Amino acid sequence: MSSIGEIEAKGAAIPLMVKALKVGYPGSPALLESISFTVKAGQIMGILGPSGCGKSTLLRHLVGLERAQCGVIELFGDNLWANDGANLDQIRRKFGIMYQGGALFGNLSLIENVSLPLKEFTTLKPGAIETAARLKLALVGLSGFEHSQPDSLSGGMRKRAAIARALALEPGLLFLDEPSAGLDPVTSAGLDHLIVTLARNLSLAFVIVTHELGSIMATLDEAILLDKEKKGIIDQGTPDYLAHRSPVPQAAAFFRRAKQA
Ligand SMILES: Nc1ncnc2c1ncn2[C@@H]1O[C@H](COP(=O)(O)OP(=O)(O)OP(=O)(O)O)[C@@H](O)[C@H]1O
Ligand SMILES: [Mg+2]
Repeated sequence: MSSIGEIEAKGAAIPLMVKALKVGYPGSPALLESISFTVKAGQIMGILGPSGCGKSTLLRHLVGLERAQCGVIELFGDNLWANDGANLDQIRRKFGIMYQGGALFGNLSLIENVSLPLKEFTTLKPGAIETAARLKLALVGLSGFEHSQPDSLSGGMRKRAAIARALALEPGLLFLDEPSAGLDPVTSAGLDHLIVTLARNLSLAFVIVTHELGSIMATLDEAILLDKEKKGIIDQGTPDYLAHRSPVPQAAAFFRRAKQA
C-alpha cells in the first residue's frame, strides 16, 4: 500500500510527459518523429490517426515495451529509461494497460484475473487481495460477477473486467488501445461513461487510442492527431476543434471516416 507521502508525490507529478520522441521498429525507418505531448491528472487524452500510422506502436513505447530511438518519456516525473531501464518495473506499477483486444485469462474467474497483479506485485494477504479485487470489480459495475468466467460474459463486461484488472494496483494513468472496438453502440456508450466517471471521480488520467466517433466526442478532453506521411502530430486540440475548426485537411478527413457508432 502507498504511504501518504507517496500519494502526495504521485498527485503532484504529471502523469505523462513525452518529449521529442522518435518511434519505430529496429531495422525499419521511423514511423513517428518529434512526438511531444503532456497528459495531466484526470485528463483523457486521445491518440487519433489512420490505420497503420503507428498509434499502437506509440503506445508500446509509452509503456516501455519498445525503446524509443530518441526522446524522453516521463511517467509521474520518472524517466522511463533512466539508468538504462533499471527502474522500469517500479515505474510500470504506476500505470495500467488494456491492449487492443483487452484479453483476460480465460481459465480464470474475474476476481482471479483482477487479483493477479496484486498477488504478483504486493505483499497483501489473501483476504486483503480479495477485498481489493472485489472493490475494483464494483468500481466498474461488475459486483456479483466475481466468480464468472470471462467466456460467459458479454464483450462489454469483459472490457470492464479488463479495466478493473488494469486498476488493480491503483494507478494514476491508464492506457487503453481501442477500448470500444467490437462493441455495439449502447455497450460502447456505457464504457465511455465509465471512463469519464473514473477520470472525474478518481482524477485518473487516460491515454486512449480510438477510431469511434461517439467515443471520441463523449470521452476525450483533448487529442493528438497523427499522420502517416508527415510521420508525426499534425494537430492537437479538443475533439470539437479537431472535427470542425482544424486548418489541417487530414483532420476533417479523419472525422469523416471515423466509425459512426
Ligand atoms: N513488431 C513489429 N515489427 C515491425 N513492424 C511492425 C511491428 N508491429 C507493427 N509494425 C508496423 O508498424 C506500422 C504501424 O503499426 P501500428 O500497429 O502501430 O498502427 P496503428 O496506427 O495502431 O494501426 P491500427 O489503427 O490498424 O491499429 C505498420 O506498418 C505495421 O505493419
Ligand atoms: Mg493499433
